[in-house]
Amino acid sequence: LPRVLSGIQPSAGSFQLGNYLGALRQWVALQDTTEAFYCVVDLHAITLPQDPAELRRSTLVSAAQLLALGVDPARSTLFVQSHVPEHLQLSWVMECLTGFGEAGRMTQFKDKSQREGTAGATVGLFTYPVLQAADILVYQADQVPVGEDQRQHLELTRDLATRFNSRFGTTFTVPAAYIPPGAAKILDLQSPERKMSKSLPPAGTVYLLDEPAVTAKKIRSAVTDTGREIMADAVAKPGVTNLLTIHSALSGRSVRELEEHFAGRGYGDLKKELAEVVTEFVTPVRQRTTELLDDRAELERILADGAQRAREVARQTVAEVYDRVGFLAPG
Ligand code: TYM
Repeated sequence: LPRVLSGIQPSAGSFQLGNYLGALRQWVALQDTTEAFYCVVDLHAITLPQDPAELRRSTLVSAAQLLALGVDPARSTLFVQSHVPEHLQLSWVMECLTGFGEAGRMTQFKDKSQREGTAGATVGLFTYPVLQAADILVYQADQVPVGEDQRQHLELTRDLATRFNSRFGTTFTVPAAYIPPGAAKILDLQSPERKMSKSLPPAGTVYLLDEPAVTAKKIRSAVTDTGREIMADAVAKPGVTNLLTIHSALSGRSVRELEEHFAGRGYGDLKKELAEVVTEFVTPVRQRTTELLDDRAELERILADGAQRAREVARQTVAEVYDRVGFLAPG
């Protein structure tokens, strides 16, 4: 079976709809045809300051949401990144193969350090993509389901795998990004020139755990474009196109079909119907997440079991890598 690895940052409170459509939906689908490893990347989270109690809580809420969305611990290995120290062992080796300039060109680092200020940016934020590469390579993953914004990190991962292989002999599978057509970049509802993200004001971001009434209101208040025709045109009508993309992804109807369905109707009709489609999707997810969080012991058991299975695989890769780079085996 092909192997799959992906990760998501624990975000205070809730994932957003872009996470689901760009990545998590593929996580769920791939469980049937691959050997899947999915982690909540708490090590990555501390590249920006975190409140300790909140981080712990977010990690649990994230795991519960993944289960509520359909990640099945019987078919996938679900774990918390910091429970598998092999990621860090491999990360160090990969840091020593990464050029300083190469890391400096990563746009996510550039964006974040610009936003938060380079003075406050940590070395951890700088080496963030190298740890991500290690997350992937330590499982010898073939495919990595992610949204469009992770493409550059996947390229770095492939470069590092290839570099290691040519320097030390074939050790790593060179992974491929698995980016869905259509919903790989969901846009903010208020600023449709930017991707939906928790770092933008909440009015433009659909959080999966929001009250459904709040979600419906956000969608009804989405920024649309000039003109009145409902048709997909990413350049002239980014707002409307984004709404059609979300509708299509959740309803399973093609964008073309939706254009016909809404022909002669107004933006208000599109938003009203989309609000229903989205709330129908999020309402049970929210309900199920709450139920899962009620049984914390069971959640912790699932994560402990996942970490144990993940470590069995990761340990073998690290042992081989340590041998290849010439570390003396402990006696
Ligand atoms: P993160 O936590 O920011 O996002 C998780 C996943 O959601 C996707 N995504 C989106 N897709 C479409 N439209 C959007 N508006 C949108 N916003 C987010 C992201 O592309 C991602 O797939 N660096 C990663 C986490 C990570 C990781 C890994 C991923 C750490 N190690 C190993 C894959 C493999 C990140 O910050 O994702």
